[in-house]
Amino acid sequence: MGCITVVLCSDLPRFCLERWQSERETRARILLSESGVEPLSLSLLEEFGVNVELVSVELGYGWTKGSPGLRSAIAEYHDGVITREHVLVTVGSSEANFLSVTSIVKPGDTVVVDMPAYMQVHGLLETRGARLYMAWRSPENEWELPLADLLEFIQTKKPRAIYLVNPNNPTGRIERENVLREIAREASKTGTIIVVDEVYRG
Ligand SMILES: Cc1ncc(COP(=O)(O)O)c(C=O)c1O
Repeated sequence: MGCITVVLCSDLPRFCLERWQSERETRARILLSESGVEPLSLSLLEEFGVNVELVSVELGYGWTKGSPGLRSAIAEYHDGVITREHVLVTVGSSEANFLSVTSIVKPGDTVVVDMPAYMQVHGLLETRGARLYMAWRSPENEWELPLADLLEFIQTKKPRAIYLVNPNNPTGRIERENVLREIAREASKTGTIIVVDEVYRG
């Protein structure tokens, strides 16, 4: 018999967006807050030539780190820079975000967060006791990351980590590759870890 333990963490700040959405999205006639695309049905996928034959799929306990085939495919997707051993498959991006904050950040660490952004990481970092620096994007700059500020912050404060959302939710901005490379170059000098939530990639 399985068992689920629910840990109530009263320190977590209220995740206003998710709460607001959960209360309304199932009963809204017109949903304006959705950030994904209209879901496809299995029959439509089949029309597109995808094999959706599911009757022989075993409904057993899965691989804890993700199936070896999936982890290899993810590693290949990253152009061979990593191997399957580097890949951990999680249940949605929110679990990955949770694990990255709890494994990378300690109380008192200085951490940069992308703003505006999906606020899960922000809330987790607050609870973790991190010192947050908000890297605010602005509409005048077409929501580009504030590169000059970021580079200066990395050089002077040597943050433990930088959390980015790219493509960015809610602005829709996809950052230019040279901007990301500059941030990566500077971060590698200070040992700063860059975590990029790419849930909307592709
Ligand atoms: C940027 C971002 N990351 C993570 C999530 C949560 O993703 P998942 O449902 O895969 O856990 C969302 C959901 O809206 C999101 O916008």
